[in-house]
Amino acid sequence: MKDNYGRDIYYLRLSVTEKCNYRCVYCMPEDSIPTDDISLSAEELVEIARAASVCGIRKVRVTGGEPLLRPDIIDICREIAAIPGITELCVTTNGVLLPKYAEPLKQAGVKRLNMSLDSLDPETYRKITRRGSLEEALRGVNAAIETGFDAIKLNAVLLGGVNDGEIRELLEMTRAHNVNVRFIEVMPIGDQADLGEFIPAARVLEAAPELRDIGADGVARLYKLPDGRGTVGLISPVSSHFCPTCNRIRVTSDGKLKPCLHSADEIDLRGLRGAELENAICAGILQKPQKHKLDSGEKSASQKNMNEIGG
Ligand code: 5AD
Ligand code: SF4
Repeated sequence: MKDNYGRDIYYLRLSVTEKCNYRCVYCMPEDSIPTDDISLSAEELVEIARAASVCGIRKVRVTGGEPLLRPDIIDICREIAAIPGITELCVTTNGVLLPKYAEPLKQAGVKRLNMSLDSLDPETYRKITRRGSLEEALRGVNAAIETGFDAIKLNAVLLGGVNDGEIRELLEMTRAHNVNVRFIEVMPIGDQADLGEFIPAARVLEAAPELRDIGADGVARLYKLPDGRGTVGLISPVSSHFCPTCNRIRVTSDGKLKPCLHSADEIDLRGLRGAELENAICAGILQKPQKHKLDSGEKSASQKNMNEIGG
């Protein structure tokens, strides 16, 4: 449905857990102890997706934390994929569990996968994720490629002095494989470690001037290497406002609807069912602000960390 600024809001990002086996520096503090005690049940999650479809949501992305840590993740995906109004179901994951789950996810109706891949250097990968292993992540990438999804996106958050020297290597993956690499400007939100110098996404074009602009895709500007198979996407939440084309709402793992990523506004959906739940979600869409203020140097007004919100 349309919000108050004429934007078609058709995309729900649904966080199914705040738990994660990583502690990425831009996402959550090293010592956080996320739990599943407060997460919505599978039944509640599916009911929210169903009610959201009544409010015009057609695309659902299951996120976290790390969604594949939930033992019931395949059932959740299968049931959401079966909702008549939901035409596209995607999952965002750090990829470590994909060797086990890529095939079942596809069978359950997941069309697209987004994976974090911030570095191709084992030490840097470890430094950013604090707990991850590049070798395991690459096994996850391969599992996704072999399973054959409609699209695979590899996300790299740009961190000055950490992975900005690897832009070239990362985007070269689009030559070797049919994957899409996306470079994301780091957003100041929640309790983060020192993220180094801010790197604007435009830096990618300096590292690879031969990239050809092939248009826009939602929040990303898309490019291709002349002989690339996949695309290279630039996502600039900080340096350029994409609020005018915002198409989404978010629900946190504990059932709070967030009309805007960077606002403290939340609507508690827990305990609501049927028409009451549908009304609350539609009201949340109408509560979306026109724009956030990150580009004027303000920190996000959201009180939560990314692992609680779902990216
Ligand atoms: N800034 C930008 N992107 C972020 N992500 C998580 N935290 C941030 C942040 N602070 C992105 C990562 C991850 C996805 C779940 O969200 O790319 O892959
Ligand atoms: Fe986990 Fe993703 Fe946050 Fe990294 S960015 S700590 S993989 S939820």
